[in-house]
Amino acid sequence: MRHLFNIDSTIHFLNHGSFGACPKPVFEAYQGWQRELERQPVEFLGRRADGLLAESRAALAAFLNAQPDDLVYFPNPTTALNMVARSLTAGSEPFLRPGDEILTTDHEYGALDRTWDYVCERAGAHYVHRPIPLPLPGPEAFAEHFWAGVNARTRIIYLSHITSPTAMIFPVADICRRAREAGILAIVDGAHAPGQIDLDLAAVGADIYAGACHKWLCAPKGAAFLYARREVQPLLEPLVVSWGWQAERPGPSPFIDWHEWQGTHRARSDPLPAGTRLARRSRCVPCARPRDARAHRGPDRPARDLRTQRGWADVRRGDAAVRHRVP
Ligand SMILES: Cc1ncc(COP(=O)(O)O)c(C=O)c1O
Repeated sequence: MRHLFNIDSTIHFLNHGSFGACPKPVFEAYQGWQRELERQPVEFLGRRADGLLAESRAALAAFLNAQPDDLVYFPNPTTALNMVARSLTAGSEPFLRPGDEILTTDHEYGALDRTWDYVCERAGAHYVHRPIPLPLPGPEAFAEHFWAGVNARTRIIYLSHITSPTAMIFPVADICRRAREAGILAIVDGAHAPGQIDLDLAAVGADIYAGACHKWLCAPKGAAFLYARREVQPLLEPLVVSWGWQAERPGPSPFIDWHEWQGTHRARSDPLPAGTRLARRSRCVPCARPRDARAHRGPDRPARDLRTQRGWADVRRGDAAVRHRVP
């Protein structure tokens, strides 16, 4: 396979997970899009990019079993989840209030632990790491153990689908189901899932799910996505406020309008090879397979419920194993 990649032939490249590696045909498609952009920048960015990105989102959505307009491209999961974290702690009536807790594990990606620490400190909330013992118990035992960290203050659950430091697959569908029943917002860091496991966003049932295309889908760097359940989308405000805010020409949804255009950037063309490759079921994307983008949402609660319904969580107080990282 080495000849398919631009990787230095003198090294044994074992760390695909950190930043991915892009196969030559995908890299060439990416450069092709950049050349196309430079040939007619105004036409490309001003007139064609929205449609091209919509096509690319549709292909990605079919691959992930989601609705295209519930997905938006981001340059990477870090940026996407920073937007989420900032949104949930912003404004005069933030979703996360002083004293609230975010329950997570002690297997999370360090940069995003820092993001949640940062916003929790400013919001007066607590980012609580539930220690997960190794070897990992079975999925049911994991879910029981993790869920024992939930208490009446738990407002958000945040965990990885596949963990960065330990490469474990967490049973996120079970956790998301319990969270939905308890009125807790479930956020999944799926940076490593697309292309590595058979990812079905409808089956996972997260409120918010971030994934990278530039890791195991082998897309060019700068191609990632954020999925948000439609009822949750109004909670998410753009990090960069631009033309899509109070849009003169509204697109398919405020979610897309608010987050897709973040000023002039090469990244407008970065996700396109991911989408076009998926659409063509390229052999460069071994896990790609067609799926119907079925309608999948069940009887969801509207966003205002998530804003206001506090204290629904299963009440389990005084769990000594819970570490409070932010006093
Ligand atoms: C679990 C996890 N989440 C998020 C990220 C961040 O990815 P990016 O740097 O593309 O934002 C990584 C990076 O390796 C990761 O392992």
